[in-house]
This record gives sequence, structure tokens and C-alpha cells, in this order.
Amino acid sequence: MAFPVPSLLACDHGAVWDSLEPLLRSRRVHRLHFDAMDGHFVPNFGFSPQLLRDLDSHIRLCQLPRPRFDVHLMVQHPEKVWPIFWEAGADGISFHGECCPDPLALARELRALGLHCAMALRPESPLELALACGPLLDELLLLGVSPGFGGQPAVGGLVERVERAAELRRERNLNFSLAVDGGVNRQTLGPLAAAGMDIPIAGSAILGQDDPVRALAELGKIFEENRLPSPGRS
Ligand code: DX5
Ligand code: ZN
Repeated sequence: MAFPVPSLLACDHGAVWDSLEPLLRSRRVHRLHFDAMDGHFVPNFGFSPQLLRDLDSHIRLCQLPRPRFDVHLMVQHPEKVWPIFWEAGADGISFHGECCPDPLALARELRALGLHCAMALRPESPLELALACGPLLDELLLLGVSPGFGGQPAVGGLVERVERAAELRRERNLNFSLAVDGGVNRQTLGPLAAAGMDIPIAGSAILGQDDPVRALAELGKIFEENRLPSPGRS
């Protein structure tokens, strides 16, 4: 059974490990989503590479399964910033196509190191931006909200955008997976999955809930009931 990917932005920042540990113990977390924000590309600041290192140590110490660490770079010049997160233990990098001067070169660099490579797009950005490096992308990460903050409602037309992205992927014979980040919750998850979303990423709908373990299990059930057989990579 596949489960949504928890986004750490929604956890209690004063007790990150306490928030995360029960989820990791549930063995339903195979990927963790870290938002890195620089106050320029988005009007907020977010996780530093040190958090990846510290969580990695805690996971080892507690002998828990280590999920993949995915870093969503909401920063200017992702092509300069990503190595800091790679050195800190990132397994996957999502860079924004809107602020990357040479996405193809960056995608090649990431893949050469075996990193999971995703292009992220703001809700208003053309999907065609991703096509230039389509065959090199493991994932296209569609923002469901204006990036920078958790807990916002999904923008209008998100389901149709996922459908269009799935169509484009089919037409161009590409096989990246389609992820949605922002605005994924109990109400939106079913329609998004039925539209072709392969990877739901959720912050407030998991770590913002009183019982995140239960919330993840329930979202996983909704996802299973609605998802299409995926042609995308995982
Ligand atoms: C938003 C971030 C998301 C955020 C999503 O800019 O990239 O990862 O955590 O939060 P929710 O799921 O609450 O919309
Ligand atoms: Zn994110």
C-alpha cells in the first residue's frame, strides 16, 4: 500500500523528533519532504541542512528505517544551493523550473550522482517548462498552493492541471511520476489521485493533525481507493 509523503513544514518546530518518531515507527513513511526556503523565492524561511543531519542521527540511534530525504528547494539559484543539502544527506532534490537558468544541466548533474531528480512548478507556471528535461526527470512536482506556507487551500483547477500533466506525459512518452505538494488533504486527495497524481505530499493533513499516524493511515486508504495504475517512476 502506498502512503502520502509527510511534509515536515507542518510539524511542531519545537519538537521535530517527537512529532516525527511515531510516524517513522508506523513503517508507513518511505519518503520525507523537507522544504528549504530562502526568503527570496518565497516569503518564508525554512529548514537548514543541519536538520537532515540531526534527523539522520536520531533515526540511526533509534534503529528505525531511514526514509528517503527529499529536499524541495524553494530558493533562488537552486543550481548553487543543492550540494549543501546533498552533503547533509539528501537523497532527492526538487528544484523550481522558474528560477533555474539551465534545468537540463542541473538534472544531468543530479542524476549523475544518483539523486532523485524532480522539477517543481508553481501553480501558475506552464507545464511545458518541464518538457525540456522531461526524460531526465524522475518526478514533476506540481505545487497545489502558492509556495512558502502550509495549510492553504488548493488552488482552483488543480485537478485539471494534474490531468493535463498526465496527458502531456503520455503524449511525449515520458515516465516521470507526478507529485502534488500543497493543499492535499482528505477532500482533495481522491480527485487528485483519480486525475493521475502518483505521489501525494501532505503537511497539515498529516503532521498538523492530533494523531498523525492515524491521519496517514486514513489518507493512505483514500489514495489506494482512487489512484490509477501508475506509469510514473516512484
Ligand atoms: C508549501 C510547501 C509544502 C507544505 C504543504 O510551499 O512546499 O511542502 O508543507 O503544506 P500543506 O500540505 O499543509 O498544504
Ligand atoms: Zn514542499
